[in-house]
Amino acid sequence: MLVFADKNKLTSHLSALKEKGLSLGFVPTMGALHEGHISLVRQALDNNSLLVVSIFVNPTQFDNAEDLKKYPRTLEDDVNLLKTVSKNIIVYAPTVDDIYNGNTKAQTFSFDGLEFEMEGRFRKGHFDGVGTIVKRLFEIVQPDNAYFGEKDFQQLTIIKKLVEKHKIPVNIIGCKIHRESNGLAMSSRNVRLKPEYKKAAPFIYKTLKAAKQKFGTKSANKVTEWVTKQFANHDFLELEYFIIADIDTLKTVKRKTKTKTYRAFIAVYADDIRLIDNIALN
Ligand code: PAJ
Repeated sequence: MLVFADKNKLTSHLSALKEKGLSLGFVPTMGALHEGHISLVRQALDNNSLLVVSIFVNPTQFDNAEDLKKYPRTLEDDVNLLKTVSKNIIVYAPTVDDIYNGNTKAQTFSFDGLEFEMEGRFRKGHFDGVGTIVKRLFEIVQPDNAYFGEKDFQQLTIIKKLVEKHKIPVNIIGCKIHRESNGLAMSSRNVRLKPEYKKAAPFIYKTLKAAKQKFGTKSANKVTEWVTKQFANHDFLELEYFIIADIDTLKTVKRKTKTKTYRAFIAVYADDIRLIDNIALN
């Protein structure tokens, strides 16, 4: 399996292959790969002749220095896991300098307000960092199709906006959330959960499913109140936000209408580890 750390070596390898007219899939990641990432990889392999997976912990999208420091970096394990799926995957695992050329700063973007909701409200500058790295990676890899998880639904929506606004010729494909058998959405952060928090964490999805059921008959406000109450006295989980939003604008719904599609979004602290999840409501 080929692993490139240098963008120039990667691009010259890719341009030779692209001349043959092969379709190129791309799965950007920050590594610490798990079955959630692998579900994207499998979908990309099914639909493209070539696949690049990038592994890069992007400093400019972290608003918390401690979170960046503690983010798991497991390149060797990641490469071995990818090898079990297909030896034809091309890995791009750059250094910070290969991407940022000594200027590790995010560009400022406008995503028509999508960036100010939810994660954008609680993680300042996060989507400028995501926009910067994804745009840069698209410029380097130049994929035909790029795969993003609905686990980070707001990120997926923002990437669609990024390619539309910047006229980047790539299809963005959203992929379903992959969960543990107990319902917990897979995340690179899950490995850091202490046993008692890991045991408590499936409560997040259990609550989302109950919220979905209640949303059939109750207002968004009532459902939000109910969810807030479920977490108020929880011993291990602290609710940061629960929001029911319109999937097009990501704005909190005031009054639901039959013509709109809604999703519930949640962020919870389990000790110092921040977990996010979401669910389609209609
Ligand atoms: P990372 O958190 O590593 O996730 C990489 C991709 O895997 C994202 O598209 C994410 O939504 C998807 N993913 C993660 N867990 C998933 C799960 N349980 N089910 C389905 N998909 C899942 O998201 C990032 O990295 C970064 O922000 C990145 C886009 C790479 C830019 O740095």
